[in-house]
Amino acid sequence: MTKIALISGANRGLGLETARQLARDYGFTVLLGARDEAKGVAAQNELQSEGLDAHFVALDVTDEDSVAKAARFVSQQYGLLDVLVNNAGIMLEHSFKVGGVGVETWKQTFDVNLFGAVALTNAILPLLEKSDAPRVVNLSAILGSISEISRPQMKTWIRASYSASKAALNAFTVALAQEKSGDAKWKINAAHPGWAKTEMGGPQALMTAAQGVKTVVQLATLGEDGPSGGFFHVSKTISW
Ligand SMILES: NC(=O)c1ccc[n+]([C@@H]2O[C@H](COP(=O)([O-])OP(=O)(O)OC[C@H]3O[C@@H](n4cnc5c(N)ncnc54)[C@H](OP(=O)(O)O)[C@@H]3O)[C@@H](O)[C@H]2O)c1
Repeated sequence: MTKIALISGANRGLGLETARQLARDYGFTVLLGARDEAKGVAAQNELQSEGLDAHFVALDVTDEDSVAKAARFVSQQYGLLDVLVNNAGIMLEHSFKVGGVGVETWKQTFDVNLFGAVALTNAILPLLEKSDAPRVVNLSAILGSISEISRPQMKTWIRASYSASKAALNAFTVALAQEKSGDAKWKINAAHPGWAKTEMGGPQALMTAAQGVKTVVQLATLGEDGPSGGFFHVSKTISW
């Protein structure tokens, strides 16, 4: 049976490319979560013009009603979900500065990167439960690894609120994986895509978006013997 994946923030960047690869290379039906209808429809049209089974779903992960509506839509149209990719993310800081970064920046960042992922996951869990092989992939970042950002050479790369939000997302990933650890059908992991050329990554990034999503696609399509509760870049484990 055709598998169904929902990807948040799928109108551009890594989200759009994840959808493309899941549909093109693995035959998924992909649901493109996007908060802006025009951008979501444009992404849907782009993938459909490539012959892919892609559908826009209105989804602002910071808006409770929008999250509930998206979950209802998936339930009514498909009855279940196989893969959830919590991809939507923001980085509001553009340099290494900690003191003076206002609480508002921290709150906005956590709203999308952590609370948005938690809200969407909560709303979608009952639909994932109906899948034979549910997969959750949380888009983390190496900047969310506390052991990595403790290395002296990483100092200037740190974006404090972003890093903290991704570290918290990592903890959420582990907590959920632990909760589901009694049932081997669940695979719940965090991904570091690598530094990829997107609006967030910028043009000087080292990887293309297509290369960046390899880890995400790998974790979204893990077999029964795959890991759960880990943090990966390609096939390598990243320390928390
Ligand atoms: N690129 C990298 O080098 C890199 C490295 C490590 C981790 N990551 C992570 O990978 C993920 C994707 O990053 P990217 O590089 O593709 O970033 P991007 O190009 O900036 O795209 C971010 C996506 O998130 C969406 N988004 C933002 N706020 C949202 C909200 N409230 N509700 C729903 N969608 C929302 C954006 O929608 P709009 O178009 O409407 O703004 C956009 O589709 C992020 O979680 C990021 O932290 C990226």
